[in-house]
Amino acid sequence: MTEKTRGRLTTRTLAMPADTNPAGDIFGGWVLSQMDIAAGICAGQRAQGRVVTVSVDSMSFIRPVKVGDVLGVYTEVAKAGRTSMQIHVEAWVRRDRIGQREKVTEALFKFVSIDESGKPTPIPEEKDLPSYVKEGMESDF
Ligand SMILES: CC(C)(COP(=O)(O)OP(=O)(O)OC[C@H]1O[C@@H](n2cnc3c(N)ncnc32)[C@H](O)[C@@H]1OP(=O)(O)O)[C@@H](O)C(=O)NCCC(=O)NCCS
Repeated sequence: MTEKTRGRLTTRTLAMPADTNPAGDIFGGWVLSQMDIAAGICAGQRAQGRVVTVSVDSMSFIRPVKVGDVLGVYTEVAKAGRTSMQIHVEAWVRRDRIGQREKVTEALFKFVSIDESGKPTPIPEEKDLPSYVKEGMESDF
């Protein structure tokens, strides 16, 4: 497969029979939830604190996910604002755990960094981030 993943592998899980729709494929809401979890990890590390999802844009379901597929979610900070961050998210599957790897979804999530009272709070400058957060540290999480 020539297509390349974008971002860092943030979560990996197995699609289970409990996550199916009536047709027997994996329910889109489950995939979206896995993407939100991974994007939340990425945004929380960029913000170095609590974050909330504020919007999801350009969500594309490209191919179905099947029971037994390994789902890997890749995330990347696409843009950092004052209190908000855009997180590019891709979900890939490895069919039946061992087969070919295919991109199944992608989307742009927006998160806002919030304080203890739920109010938006500025995110740190990139230079002040711990090294594990900085791009290029592929082996770390
Ligand atoms: C996210 C939230 C704290 C923003 O509060 P707010 O008073 O609108 O905040 P502000 O107007 O000061 O905007 C803060 C930032 O969020 C962005 N933002 C706010 N609402 C947005 C929206 N609907 N879409 C995209 N971005 C938005 C602003 O552009 C701003 O970004 P910047 O600081 O990088 O320039 C508030 O809308 C909220 O709590 N929403 C619910 C989030 C939630 O519970 N998510 C989980 C759903 S189950």
